[in-house]
Amino acid sequence: MVQHLPVLLREVIEMFSLYEGCHYLDATFGGGGHTRALLERDPSSKVTVLDCDPEAYSRAVEMSKEYENRLTCYNLNFDRLEEIPEQKFDGIIFDLGVSSYQLDTAARGFSFHRKAPLDMRIDPRKSVTAAEFLKISTREELIEAVRDFGEEKQWRKVVDAILKARGNGAIKVTTELAEMVSKAINTGFGRGRKSQIHPATKTFQGIRIALNKELNKLKVSLPQAFKKLNSRGILIVISFHSLEDRIVKRYFNRMAGRPEHRGDSLPKQLRTSQATLLTTRPLRPSQKEKNNNIRSRSARLRALQKDYSPTPI
Ligand SMILES: C[S@@+](CC[C@H](N)C(=O)[O-])C[C@H]1O[C@@H](n2cnc3c(N)ncnc32)[C@H](O)[C@@H]1O
Repeated sequence: MVQHLPVLLREVIEMFSLYEGCHYLDATFGGGGHTRALLERDPSSKVTVLDCDPEAYSRAVEMSKEYENRLTCYNLNFDRLEEIPEQKFDGIIFDLGVSSYQLDTAARGFSFHRKAPLDMRIDPRKSVTAAEFLKISTREELIEAVRDFGEEKQWRKVVDAILKARGNGAIKVTTELAEMVSKAINTGFGRGRKSQIHPATKTFQGIRIALNKELNKLKVSLPQAFKKLNSRGILIVISFHSLEDRIVKRYFNRMAGRPEHRGDSLPKQLRTSQATLLTTRPLRPSQKEKNNNIRSRSARLRALQKDYSPTPI
């Protein structure tokens, strides 16, 4: 049976342990691991949850029956979180990416280990599938996906192979794409001493990020989340690769009145601080957690606390 193990759960719960009766927003419900722990820790707490995947939303609705009047669910993309009627939260969490439910369900087309139509949509009601994306994208869009979002060093070979395969009938199946990428970059995977990471890993990641516009959605949703925080409320983001983490780090630095990055030369007097960093460096899972849950190995948690203000910001 598919199960999703919540990542950095103890750390999230400890950071959110402000006082009794808090109202939290879980912007990425998934399997509800973080939500359940928050509801269990304090019987007077409430959680509002979002997920753009209708299957995750159904799981949330099921869970809400166990916690009468304490769990409210929306089948909504987090880039529209400003639209929910709840005005303020004491804690907001984003646990980015996809869940084990999505990765391990072959038909969702996220995994190169499982033969299935190449889909990869987090919200299956939206946009084109990954197969269609590979068929209709320009060379520049493919480069952005593979080189910029996948951080694949051999992006030229992969993009050329995709464009060539288009001429012979589109790539429609996960395993076909994985095989094509393996052939194109030939890392010696499975032949002993070279990389044991599947050669299609980065390309799959890049296509998924491009298709679901994951970085843009994160960028626009962070200020919306910050607005919805109560004074002294805490925003936690768990990311799984450096591109997401960079967006979070820069936004958090800006809100804390710090330079966003090394090249940021804005004079100090022009910066305003509305929050305090609770993590100057991201928290990483312990070795024990990484051993128990391989998907946690790249997780990074950053947290920010909105400063006290007598009139809400
Ligand atoms: C890593 S899982 C969250 C797991 C969850 N914290 C748990 O403990 O079970 C990420 C979830 O976020 C959802 N998601 C990803 N991008 C989203 C977006 N832009 N808007 C809303 N939900 C999103 C996915 O559908 C997935 O269910």
